[in-house]
Amino acid sequence: MSISIPQLPKGTRDFYPEAERIQNYIFDTWRSVAESFAYEEYEGPMFEHLELYTGKSGEEIVSQLYNFKDKGDREIALRPEMTPTLARLVIQKARELKKPFKWFSMPRLFRYEKAQKGRLREFFQLNMDIIGTESIYAEADLMAAIATMLRKFGLKDGEFAIGVSSRKLLATYLEEIGAPNPALVYPVLDRRLKIGPEAFAKALADAGLSEDQVKKLDDFMSCKSIEEVKTKVHSENATAALAEIEDLFATLTAAGYGECVNLDLSIVRGLAYYTGIVFEVFDKGKSMRAIAGGGRYDSLTEKLGGERIPGVGFGMGDVVLADLLAEHNLLPSPKQSVDFYIASFTNDMKKVFETAQVFRSASSSKEGGKPFSVAHPLAAMKMGKQLDQANYQGAKIVVYVDGSKAAAGEFEYKDMRTGEMFVGNTEAIVARL
Ligand code: HAM
Repeated sequence: MSISIPQLPKGTRDFYPEAERIQNYIFDTWRSVAESFAYEEYEGPMFEHLELYTGKSGEEIVSQLYNFKDKGDREIALRPEMTPTLARLVIQKARELKKPFKWFSMPRLFRYEKAQKGRLREFFQLNMDIIGTESIYAEADLMAAIATMLRKFGLKDGEFAIGVSSRKLLATYLEEIGAPNPALVYPVLDRRLKIGPEAFAKALADAGLSEDQVKKLDDFMSCKSIEEVKTKVHSENATAALAEIEDLFATLTAAGYGECVNLDLSIVRGLAYYTGIVFEVFDKGKSMRAIAGGGRYDSLTEKLGGERIPGVGFGMGDVVLADLLAEHNLLPSPKQSVDFYIASFTNDMKKVFETAQVFRSASSSKEGGKPFSVAHPLAAMKMGKQLDQANYQGAKIVVYVDGSKAAAGEFEYKDMRTGEMFVGNTEAIVARL
């Protein structure tokens, strides 16, 4: 009988060091930009009680849950998104938390969906959320952070766009045209561009809309400017929702992000808890799935049994982002890179270990930054082999512990980037880096 070798589960990824290096580049950039906007990092468990999701997130995400009964007969689900966990954290400390506050997290998430380009069963998602304010400037802050982040990754304005819509505006329009059952209509509207005009019309007819209502909705969702929308909506609520979007755009324009946002009423969002502004980030030409999506959810904490605390935020997945960066050649080299490689002509391993330690401690003189990375052979070997290893590991400088000046406390060393040889003490070598 042949034994089959273990297989990677569908929709998951292995991160060999080269892939993990790129992953860390994404995480580091996410974290540094979130911190530069003064968001604080938080975490939660990877699994929650199933009921945290059922009914509150929307049908699609619930059908994609990885859930099971644990040994205590409790219904458990691996987290498919972070927002319900965040809402739980907020409810638990509703009184103590000084509002508004800005938090971020980079959870590993699980969704049982069809694995395809841009969609996996296990992925990472940056979440940035602002809790405790209904102000539209919270949306402005989040969108400024998204644009800053994508620019920091090297994308240019015009290579991505934050499309903005409003559930409030849509709801008032549905009311104005007398559409029944908004709850049944939203999921259809969310799929409008995916399913094509005929299926769209049929699904809306099934939800109880007349032909005229379908046509009006389709026209409405195709509006490209606020001016155009103004000709279609007239109620006080709609006017207020539009004024809010105008203020948001004007604020972002003043801050230098005007080119990064546009009105896109085709965006509805599948999640059930959104109540106001909703937005999605796409590559130019929308050739890929969404890079990020989010919106305002002012009643989620209430739906979960807590007091009403407004919130707004977004999730940005690592999968589409990495695909897009790869397409633009913006991912860093996946190769390893170390600062020093400590070599020895005589295979004096004690001296090698001792010197490696000297260079590692030399990092303490560096301000802030990471400690130096120091590599060396782990067994006796010829100098040629050691240099091969140094090269393979991307060493910047090779230090020879037993060169002719060693007795005088100086090392011969080679700058691998230029091929030049030098002699000097630890300080001089560190300065050369
Ligand atoms: P979402 O639209 O479900 O929103 O996901 C946001 C982003 O996560 C997507 O645009 C995509 O980049 C990524 N994503 C989603 N599913 C997958 C998947 N199966 N594989 C790879 N990437 C995926 C939410 O999750 C909301 N909870 C976001 C939010 C935070 N709203 C307010 N705060």
